Amino acid sequence: MKNDIKEILKGEKVQYSTTVKGWVRTFRNNQFIALNDGSTNQNLQIVVDFNNMDEFLLKRITTSACISATGVIQASQGKGQTVELIAESIKILGDSDAEKYPLQPKKHSLEFLREIAHLRFRTNTFGSVFRLRNALSYGIHKFFQEKDFIYMHSPIISASDAEGAGEMFKVTTLNMENLPKDENGSVDYTNDFFGRAANLTVSGQLEAELAALALGKVYTFGPTFRAENSNTARHLAEFWMIEPEVAFNELKENADLAEEMLKYVIRYAMEKHPDDIDFLDARLAEEEKQKPTNERSEFGLKEKLNFMLDSDFERVTYTEAIEILLQSPAYKKKKFQYEVSWGIDMQSEHERYLVEKHFKKPVIVTDYPKDIKAFYMRQNDDGKTVAAMDILAPGIGEIIGGSQREERLDYLEKRMQEMHIPIEEMYWYLDTRRYGTCKHAGFGLGFERLVLFVTGMGNIRDVIPFPRTPKNCEF
Ligand code: 4AD
Ligand code: MG
Repeated sequence: MKNDIKEILKGEKVQYSTTVKGWVRTFRNNQFIALNDGSTNQNLQIVVDFNNMDEFLLKRITTSACISATGVIQASQGKGQTVELIAESIKILGDSDAEKYPLQPKKHSLEFLREIAHLRFRTNTFGSVFRLRNALSYGIHKFFQEKDFIYMHSPIISASDAEGAGEMFKVTTLNMENLPKDENGSVDYTNDFFGRAANLTVSGQLEAELAALALGKVYTFGPTFRAENSNTARHLAEFWMIEPEVAFNELKENADLAEEMLKYVIRYAMEKHPDDIDFLDARLAEEEKQKPTNERSEFGLKEKLNFMLDSDFERVTYTEAIEILLQSPAYKKKKFQYEVSWGIDMQSEHERYLVEKHFKKPVIVTDYPKDIKAFYMRQNDDGKTVAAMDILAPGIGEIIGGSQREERLDYLEKRMQEMHIPIEEMYWYLDTRRYGTCKHAGFGLGFERLVLFVTGMGNIRDVIPFPRTPKNCEF
């Protein structure tokens, strides 16, 4: 196996022969190759003795060519690197026509890079983003595994609408050019693959609940799909969600778990890839400089993350949050575009006010009006609210949504009826309430929103390798 450039650059050893493989970032003066192999944003400098190198080979060392270089690692004479490789031989593994290569060695906009998402992995920004994404993913498993949660694979194809919001993609093998119809003129799914209508799942929660009421503590971590036509910097049609579900937990313990998890995974990613955090911190600072002063954020990326680790999340009820908004200078000066009153589904401007202006830290809002929340949330004694919680993060808004679940069969059935959720079809969900029900709670963390938060990137399309959004399914 080749040596990772990341290991070599630690400079713990010098004066040894090795081979490295990677992609050329730049080739200066026919002498210095900056080679990157994806293990880090730092390039290894390869020193070429052009007098003793085949001229034709030198010409093939172009930006983005894939090469293998063998030589001796030495302490570097030059500035900017601890060690370098003095090349004895170079092989071209894959040529790259520098004239045609879409990623010229200059600054490209993120919008442009999105159009060449198949190549954007080769930039420093996306190298850092995807290494951090990986660390966050591993950190999540590490967190739950250390607590003896069972990782549960919830189905991706499902016949139920877990959120009851009807934003689902259909899964079918029916001939779309010639759909079978029943006597009422509706599509007849009996001859479809599953013998019924099926969808891509919007959430693994309901299945996770079934498992939690036997295994105790479970979590899912998988892709989920929403056919909501939201063209925003926070929404994807395909995103990854982490959904823990814990028997006997109530709302407070649910919130404690969520806060502990967020802090754990953020710390883990920061410790695992300090260089990438530094790089993105500088990138964001540079980007902020382009903005008018009053729009710049108060915190740098690292400051924000450290602050998050060091502070207790604020906890308020929805009713208190609305009161804060009504008392706010922003409301009094009519700065909000959307109305504020008890019962509204808070808009992102309201959430951002609470988090960024009022509390200046992550906020856990609990006990929302039942009419704006899903059927499975546990009803509070006031008859108006449910034991829901959303966690709002600076710059992101809602990063987690969760609740204590309605474990009482009669309450649940009544609520399902009111909300037109098909009770018969969901017999399996209700069975857990029939046979040994218990209090339980869980939440869903939108993985890409977490990656957005940790990388300081501004658009969710830039933290998933190949984003799926309305009118966009490239690659
Ligand atoms: O609030 P949501 O819809 O909650 C659920 O799906 C519950 N079943 C979770 C549970 O209690 N087990 O979604 C949970 C999180 C949101 O807080 C948000 O971070 C993320 O998923 N999310 C999205 N992320 C990207 N694109 C979208 N379209 C998203 N919709 C939700
Ligand atoms: Mg939500």
